[in-house]
Amino acid sequence: ENYQAIVLAAGQGKRMGVGHNKQLIALGDRPLIAHTLQVFEGDPWCSAIYLVVHPDEHNVMKDVVTEYGFSKVVKFVNGGLERQHSVKNAVDTLSQDLVTFVHDGARPFVSEGELHKLYEATVSHGAAFLATRVTDTIKQVEGHEVKTLDRSKLYQAQTPQAFTYKWLTEAHDYAATKEMIATDDVALLELINKNAAVVEGSYHNFKLTTPEDIQKAENMLKINSQGNYK
Ligand code: CTP
Ligand code: MG
Repeated sequence: ENYQAIVLAAGQGKRMGVGHNKQLIALGDRPLIAHTLQVFEGDPWCSAIYLVVHPDEHNVMKDVVTEYGFSKVVKFVNGGLERQHSVKNAVDTLSQDLVTFVHDGARPFVSEGELHKLYEATVSHGAAFLATRVTDTIKQVEGHEVKTLDRSKLYQAQTPQAFTYKWLTEAHDYAATKEMIATDDVALLELINKNAAVVEGSYHNFKLTTPEDIQKAENMLKINSQGNYK
C-alpha cells in the first residue's frame, strides 16, 4: 500500500493520426495501454490504479482490463476535454490519502526501478517527477528574435509525476478555481508555490505521440523481451 496510480487514457491521439485513440494501437501482441497497465500491476509498491477513459471507450477499455486480468484497476473514471480535466476527474474520486502517481497511458516503457526512485523522492520532498536532460539545444523564438537557452538547466518532464495526496488535491483545486490550464501536473504545483524534485529517468520512457514512435516502440519491446533492458 505504498502508492496509487492515475493512468490517463482518455485522449484522442490526434498527432498519431491512426483515426482512433492511440492507447489501443497494437504493440507486439497487445494494445499499448495493456503494456502500460502491466508495469503498475506488476509493481508490488502500487496498490490501486484509477484508469481514466473516454466515455465512448469505456467498454473496450474494460474488456482490455478483464482480458489481461489487471486486478489493481479499482475504478474507471471519465476523462475530460483537456488532459488536466482528466486528471482532476480522477483526483476527485480518489478514496485514499496516499502518495499518488499521475502517468500517461502512452508511456509503456517506464521501469519498476524508476517508479521506486520516484516514490522515495516523493516521500522526501512532497512531489517528484521523472525527467531527462535535453539533448538538443533549445531555441526560444519570438517573431524574429531567437534566444538560445542554457542547455545545462533544461529538462524534459516525463511521467509519472508523483505527489502527496494533499499537494495534488490542493494544486488541482486551486487551478480549477482560477481556471488555469497546464500541460502537466507539476506546473500546477508551481501555482501553489510548491516544488517537485527532479528524478533523472531514462530516454526509454518516451511518450508515443507521432507515427514514428510506433516502430521505436516495437524495437523497445524486442529489446525488453531479450532481457537487455528492464
Ligand atoms: N489524455 C487524457 N485526457 C485528455 C487528453 C489526454 O487522458 N483530455 C491522456 C492521453 O490519453 C495520453 C496522455 O494524456 O495518455 C498524454 O497526452 P497526449 O500525449 O497529448 O495524448 P493525446 O491527447 O491523446 O494526443 P494528441 O495530443 O496528439 O491528440
Ligand atoms: Mg494531447
